[in-house]
Amino acid sequence: MPAHSVLLAATALLLGIPTVLTLSNGVARLPVLGYNTWNAFACNIDQDLVLTQAKLMKSLGLQAVGYTHVHLDDCWADKNRSASGTLVPDQTRFSRGMNNLTGELHAMGFNAGIYGDSGWFTCAGYPGSFEHEAQDAQTFQDWGFDYLKYDNCNIPFDDIIREGMVGKYQRMSDALTQLAQTSRKTPIIFSLCQWGWEQVWLWGASVGHSWRTTGDISPNWDALASIINFNSFITQATGFYGRNDMDMVRLGNGGLTYDEAKTHFTAWALMKSPLLIGTNLSAIDDATLGILKNTELLAINQDSVQGSSVSPFRWGVNPDWTSDSSSPAQYWSGPSENGTVFMLINTLAEPSDMFFNLTESPWIRAGRQYSVRDLWTHTNNGTAVRNFTARAVPEHGVVALLLKDAGDEPTGLTPCAVWDNCASQNGTAVQG
Ligand SMILES: *[C@@H]1O[C@H](CO)[C@@H](O)[C@H](O)[C@H]1NC(C)=O
Ligand SMILES: *[C@@H]1O[C@H](CO)[C@@H](O)[C@H](O)[C@H]1NC(C)=O
Ligand SMILES: *[C@@H]1O[C@H](CO)[C@@H](O)[C@H](O)[C@H]1NC(C)=O
Ligand SMILES: *[C@@H]1O[C@H](CO)[C@@H](O)[C@H](O)[C@H]1NC(C)=O
Ligand SMILES: *[C@@H]1O[C@H](CO)[C@@H](O)[C@H](O)[C@H]1NC(C)=O
Ligand SMILES: *[C@@H]1O[C@H](CO)[C@@H](O)[C@H](O)[C@H]1NC(C)=O
Ligand SMILES: *[C@@H]1O[C@H](CO)[C@@H](O)[C@H](O)[C@H]1NC(C)=O
Ligand SMILES: *[C@@H]1O[C@H](CO)[C@@H](O)[C@H](O)[C@H]1NC(C)=O
Repeated sequence: MPAHSVLLAATALLLGIPTVLTLSNGVARLPVLGYNTWNAFACNIDQDLVLTQAKLMKSLGLQAVGYTHVHLDDCWADKNRSASGTLVPDQTRFSRGMNNLTGELHAMGFNAGIYGDSGWFTCAGYPGSFEHEAQDAQTFQDWGFDYLKYDNCNIPFDDIIREGMVGKYQRMSDALTQLAQTSRKTPIIFSLCQWGWEQVWLWGASVGHSWRTTGDISPNWDALASIINFNSFITQATGFYGRNDMDMVRLGNGGLTYDEAKTHFTAWALMKSPLLIGTNLSAIDDATLGILKNTELLAINQDSVQGSSVSPFRWGVNPDWTSDSSSPAQYWSGPSENGTVFMLINTLAEPSDMFFNLTESPWIRAGRQYSVRDLWTHTNNGTAVRNFTARAVPEHGVVALLLKDAGDEPTGLTPCAVWDNCASQNGTAVQG
């Protein structure tokens, strides 16, 4: 444990504050950006396909805007381990071996990711790492991988897994930590694919760098709305070194309108989810590419000063704190290096105007005015005084704004910039 973590833990103990220590071991301080093979290709992967997608990540300019990882998902392995119990890549589809693949990826400037499972078998029936954690961690490192996605299928039970769900993941977390210490190499980034079981957002940060909070994403509005709704209640779990993983960026596979696709990308980016592209890049269209390359949103996802997620300040259509998987919270904000970020989601099936008072967001100072930057049109949209209205936000569409302090608000306005509960020193109530 680094000295500052010990101090933190000791202080927390003294003060009686419960604390979740993050896995702040030098890697994955910020969300991982990259590519994953699963959504477009499922089990139909081989070394050439992976390298083709990696080359497209480069030639399409995705690597240049920050997507620096390329990850395999399930089905890379042989069904049987070797005589000595090590994992073996599929002899036909990965005939050149994993060192060749990671070597090629590294030469292109990518980090390489592999997939495993915390149970007996992976979800597609390949060998899982339960009771092989140290051996497999060593194999992944020997093969040159930088990242491990670790799934939750085929769970051992009863007397075999008395450690519980936390312990099941802790085993590989410990193996990776141990390996980094003994080998003195950069720790492998540990990504829990745990689907939000047993409140993973309460303990994931002490075990890994990201944790899936929901099941697999489908490319349709209902799936997006449901994932956004679920995650709206647990945004506090996200920070530097550990974060809610809302699953892959499911663009360009059909099923979403252009506005829904923008909403998808905005919510994932501003909620600081890892952003792993799951598109067949050989067939990607310009509109999808444009969304994935929104550098202003990517900069906020990768904010090195403010690690927290945006959170809802008003649900809008529903009363505050309503959980509604088809109609999530509409009005969100959060801090960033350069100002307060706002995200407005029109959950309705028709265009609508969306209004908020600036001080509904805790990051806004009353009595100040704010310059408004539209993070989709990439324009400066004047100055907001006390409130802002986004006009005719499309059905299932999104607005992303960056508000920067632009000094005291103009004189001559009603005395109170807070919308409720202002008083003079002599106790007289003052209306906003
Ligand atoms: C895998 O091992 C099992 C026995 O554990 C054996 O029956 C099977 O033939 C092996 N499969 C291959 C492809 O070697
Ligand atoms: C991978 O294998 C190919 C074909 O044998 C070879 O040309 C290439 O140099 C190898 N790359 C690495 C990084 O080993
Ligand atoms: C990916 O796109 C290419 C080019 O359109 C196409 O030939 C290929 O079949 C696609 N693969 C899948 C799995 O959709
Ligand atoms: C803040 O603004 C600077 C200058 O435009 C930019 O380089 C940086 O990426 C921005 N940071 C965030 C988190 O948006
Ligand atoms: C929005 O703020 C302006 C002052 O900038 C004020 O005149 C207007 O009444 C406010 N609108 C609402 C709906 O509160
Ligand atoms: C910001 O200004 C641009 C350019 O005029 C406009 O297209 C966009 O709708 C405005 N954004 C908002 C949220 O009003
Ligand atoms: C916005 O502020 C005005 C007072 O300026 C208040 O009447 C209104 O209820 C507030 N609206 C919201 C949504 O907070
Ligand atoms: C209280 O103070 C306000 C100014 O802040 C003034 O307008 C008002 O007359 C005062 N009321 C009393 C009862 O003194």
